[in-house]
Amino acid sequence: MENKRPEWTSYISFIIATIGSAVGLGNIWRFPYIMGEYGGAVFLLVYLFMVALICAIPLAVELAMGKIYKSDVVSVYEKINSRFKIFGIIGGITAVLIPAFYFVVGGWIINYIWIFLINDIPADFSAYFLTMNANPYIPLSLTVLFLLCTIIFPFIGLNKGIERANNIMMPLFGIMLILLAGYALTLSGAQEGLRFMFKPDFSKFSGEMILAALGQALFTLSIGMGAMITYGSYLKKEVNIRKSVYTLIFFDTVVAMLAGIMIFPIVFTNGIEPTAGATLVFISLPQIFLSLPFTRVLAVIFFLLLFFAAITSGISLLETSIACLCDRFKMSRKKSALLIFLAVLLLALPSSLSFGLMTDIRIFDKTFFDFLDYITSNILMPFGSLAAVIIAGWYAKNIAKEAFGEGNFARLLTFLLKFVLPPVLIAVLIIGLN
Ligand code: PHE
Repeated sequence: MENKRPEWTSYISFIIATIGSAVGLGNIWRFPYIMGEYGGAVFLLVYLFMVALICAIPLAVELAMGKIYKSDVVSVYEKINSRFKIFGIIGGITAVLIPAFYFVVGGWIINYIWIFLINDIPADFSAYFLTMNANPYIPLSLTVLFLLCTIIFPFIGLNKGIERANNIMMPLFGIMLILLAGYALTLSGAQEGLRFMFKPDFSKFSGEMILAALGQALFTLSIGMGAMITYGSYLKKEVNIRKSVYTLIFFDTVVAMLAGIMIFPIVFTNGIEPTAGATLVFISLPQIFLSLPFTRVLAVIFFLLLFFAAITSGISLLETSIACLCDRFKMSRKKSALLIFLAVLLLALPSSLSFGLMTDIRIFDKTFFDFLDYITSNILMPFGSLAAVIIAGWYAKNIAKEAFGEGNFARLLTFLLKFVLPPVLIAVLIIGLN
């Protein structure tokens, strides 16, 4: 049993799980604040362009690679050519590095659910956020708790664990998101919020913004480290990749927009700057919840929604590295999950302490948490996407065929794959390194 490679039970389960992977903290936490920083509607336009025309291509390529070679990310690259194995190894490592900071945020989410559910609600969230993180034990224990809540599903297995978790959590997530976005639209700042999102101010256009939009698009679609290769590897033969990519991109984008529609009216109603940055969701927003009716209900729904989004993305991150151990070392799923649990734990330790005890320990002038975030999103993921794109464009032609199908549109996509994407991604990497 253990050695037989699992498959998705249905197309719908596959799509829900891939949407679960794509829709995560990237959409709800990162997207609004990055959009806030880069001026709103103009960023949204560039972002939509990046998602539809640039990132759809590596997304299709990664799913196709998995579907054709039916293995973990390392073996997929090795099967294409043993020289390429290194890219798979980098992907597998990235899949352990991302959880080491992503899951720390997961721990904060649990903390917020807990305070809004049963604890006394603090009056000043910026002070609260600092105190919470200055304590060495609580954030770390919550990170471990979040890790346990996530790893349990790949530990159980693809069909009974991963699929089930996604099939339950994603619809709940969707309902809560629509509820909150609908509520936000009834607030007095709704118009201003919507104007900020949809009425472009072209003076805000900048080169840096274009890169931020591309980085965000790669991150939100889980491209460049093997998660989509791994999920693609459980696909049945008859699945059409191009169609799956349209569906996936549609949902991921709708969720990001709804997240904006949910957050900006709340922000503008309360006169907070949308440029509050990474702390928007953990400091500004909870502070605003205090002034709205039904504080606890609102806040609990919001943080539960964030929790589900983070878990379903976390599952795909962990599955990527767990599959490597299962496939390459013929280890059982349970043993692989245990080893990955330990590896993530080891890295999450300094990452979680970055906000307290270890703030002064810097790598390239960054705390360990920021360093992990930086190297994964700005270097490893664009690099991983570049590798996938060059290999599919120039070495293994069967991949593009599987990814795009046939016809004129497929030829256009192949042209973009070969000639447009590599220079664009190289530019991101170079600028990202500065
Ligand atoms: N796409 C996820 C998000 O938006 C993050 C992620 C990245 C998940 C890479 C898996 C792999 O939060």
